[in-house]
Amino acid sequence: MDPRPIGVFDSGLGGLTAVRELTRLLPGEDVVYFGDTGRVPYGSRGRDSIIRFARQDVAFLLQRGVKAVVCACGTISTVAGALLQKTLDVPFFMVVDPSCRAAAKATRTGRMGVIATNATIASGSFQARLGELAPGAQVFSAACPLLVPLVEAGHIAPDDPITAPAVRYYLEPLAQRDIDTLILGCTHYPILAPAIRRFFGDGVALIDSGQQAALAVAGFLAEAGMLSGREAGGACTYYVTDDPRGFAKTAGIFLGTRVDDRAVQVDLGVLEGMNSEQ
Ligand code: DGL
Repeated sequence: MDPRPIGVFDSGLGGLTAVRELTRLLPGEDVVYFGDTGRVPYGSRGRDSIIRFARQDVAFLLQRGVKAVVCACGTISTVAGALLQKTLDVPFFMVVDPSCRAAAKATRTGRMGVIATNATIASGSFQARLGELAPGAQVFSAACPLLVPLVEAGHIAPDDPITAPAVRYYLEPLAQRDIDTLILGCTHYPILAPAIRRFFGDGVALIDSGQQAALAVAGFLAEAGMLSGREAGGACTYYVTDDPRGFAKTAGIFLGTRVDDRAVQVDLGVLEGMNSEQ
């Protein structure tokens, strides 16, 4: 048994999709969440910046004594994940493999879509893994760079007058490809699942990448005997690098619980002095 918290991180609010699932699956576990809301979005940045930021984010979580790290971010998983994994001595989980496995299982027609940030789509990671897991499948992808800023700004209602047309704009080409399964390969996008569902209807299975990462870590910790042993009462603390109030408001709507007094601001200057490789 291991009473230490599980660390989860993302560039902003997206990793809450993993937190929601983790707290549902493992209500007795403590969770430390880090969202780099002062520097989001990562997905339109270059590789070097994404790697540097990711190392700082992970260093922050390690300082909090976490027993495992969940990279609840498609962008970091695909751009920096392999590098991070090499340097960590705690179990490390990412979004690509579990999401692709779930998609390969869900598809009936073999026509799948992936939506994610510019950096993730350009990496080709989801497309490559799907090709391995479902040979012969047809995979169509689309970068949706405006969706992360919309989520961060709290435009998450399915009928939001800015988000609904943006969702239609990005998803229409995939709808024309007649996909039956769509990987939400950026963890911010499941927060827009009601808007995406409203566009597609019920005919397309949505794969929530944050949820899939949470399922992977929960399964691993149970098997490795690393759960806390508590059945309930786990606490979640949220650290962000910008004003916690905006974060707390949208996080509260998405998680269905108030997070106000549990959202703490981290000084970006201090974070910039950290490095998970040290
Ligand atoms: N949630 C992040 C992801 O999964 C968003 C990346 C960004 O900051 O652009 O890719």
